[in-house]
Amino acid sequence: MTSNAVEIENLSKTFISIKRKAIIIPTEKKKVEALKSVSLDIPKGQIYGLLGPNGAGKTTLIKCLATLVLPTSGTAKVNGYDVLKESTYARASMGVCQGNERSIYWKLSARENLIFFAKLYRMPTSEAKERADELLGRMGLTEKADEKAENLSHGMRMKIVFARALIHDPPVLLLDEPTQGLDPTFASDLRNYVQEKLKDKTILLTTHYMHEADLLCDKIALINEGEIKSFGTPHELKEAVRDYDSLHMKVVGTPDIETIKKMENVMSASMNTKNGHSDLVVTAQNGYDMAHILLDYMRDTGSGKVEHFEVKEPSLDDVFLQLTGRRIKD
Ligand SMILES: Nc1ncnc2c1ncn2[C@@H]1O[C@H](COP(=O)(O)OP(=O)(O)OP(=O)(O)O)[C@@H](O)[C@H]1O
Ligand SMILES: [Mg+2]
Repeated sequence: MTSNAVEIENLSKTFISIKRKAIIIPTEKKKVEALKSVSLDIPKGQIYGLLGPNGAGKTTLIKCLATLVLPTSGTAKVNGYDVLKESTYARASMGVCQGNERSIYWKLSARENLIFFAKLYRMPTSEAKERADELLGRMGLTEKADEKAENLSHGMRMKIVFARALIHDPPVLLLDEPTQGLDPTFASDLRNYVQEKLKDKTILLTTHYMHEADLLCDKIALINEGEIKSFGTPHELKEAVRDYDSLHMKVVGTPDIETIKKMENVMSASMNTKNGHSDLVVTAQNGYDMAHILLDYMRDTGSGKVEHFEVKEPSLDDVFLQLTGRRIKD
């Protein structure tokens, strides 16, 4: 029995759209390779981020897993079920949140929506009602339970969309841009919810918000033009492309800058001193290792006391830029 909740092997999807400029002009076929032989395994219980710019293929991958789009080639399994050959079981194993407020019925109330979708999963009525109320409570929507979705705010509707994905308590969640268009408070509520309440779920989360991926994801795959360019923990991804760190220290005292410049692995060092307080900036291959060396040096020589230090890492966008030559957000 595999310990992966999602297994994707050489998945490709080519869209062919037909264009006709005018009746007398022959149709033109346009091919878009949205996914090019994507392989990805997600261990059970992990939050896996799929990070990439517009048009990278994130939604297409989610749709292939969700059985909403037929892949051109390759295989994918969710909870051990092949999404093509065992689609009913695969679908029952996952909840999909497409970040689209139109995926609920606006004429139904928040509670009616959730009960309706619960019943599609053949949940008995009493259980469906209980589950709907539980989720509405968790989303802070109890007071709005009987309000029609059309009378709710965008953020509230998105919470119902999110609750809809959870209604049958699936082991796997596919979240496509779940916080897009949400105001910062709702977005942060949702992130907290994912972090605190969905620890036992396996989650594939697409986003082009770098801080969201950094905050929530155990692992991240960087996708560009249908291809996975790299994957790893946020830290591993940054480490892989990092030539050096920038270490910023606030020091009480005046350590000898010339000695620091000559230390092993120091690429450059500069210091500004005012009233016995120094701002020291050191670039070195590993900022954290360097911080320890400098802390020891200043303590041993009595030349300074470090009040604060910060290692400025590259962002995931810097990693993406190095890998693809473009930024995630253009
Ligand atoms: N139904 C379709 N027909 C034709 N081309 C499509 C279709 N769906 C997606 N595409 C194309 O496939 C590529 C990948 O699209 P996709 O929606 O997966 O990107 P995405 O990474 O989700 O982008 P975004 O960040 O904007 O949501 C794009 O070039 C898109 O135009
Ligand atoms: Mg998308």
